[in-house]
Amino acid sequence: MNESKNIIPIASDHGGFWIKEFIKTQLTDAGFEVKDLGTYSSESVDYPDFIHPLAKAVNEGVYNRGIIACGSGQGAMMTANKYPNIRAGLCWNTEQAKLIRMHNNANIISLPGRFVSLSAAWEMVHTFLTTEFEGGRHVQRVEKIGKIL
Ligand code: RB5
Repeated sequence: MNESKNIIPIASDHGGFWIKEFIKTQLTDAGFEVKDLGTYSSESVDYPDFIHPLAKAVNEGVYNRGIIACGSGQGAMMTANKYPNIRAGLCWNTEQAKLIRMHNNANIISLPGRFVSLSAAWEMVHTFLTTEFEGGRHVQRVEKIGKIL
């Protein structure tokens, strides 16, 4: 068994740094093992430099699910979604975190660090990690995402 499949990788730029730090603590306290892929301070950086390594690893099956954040959550999500096996969803509330799992089988959640509270971010992450894909009619829809014309 691949042990790292049970580890949750997390990455952000400076705009998502404080949320990353908070989520990391919450995950650890809740018994999850976390792999922090940076950034490691609130100094300004380019989000793709930190999101690419996480997305690549999830894309290749090193990890099952990942957490990313930037100021708006948008750039991080766009970067991650460049990888064919990645379905990254940007979430603003818990209902969205539930839906990206149930309907889209998302394997990465993207958080807008400058627009949500720490407690809301944790609630979304916890929901994302504990909600299963609904399957059924959503299977063929998810499969069609990659079938670009
Ligand atoms: C950084 O200022 C900001 O542009 C970044 O965190 C993110 O919001 C990009 O999408």
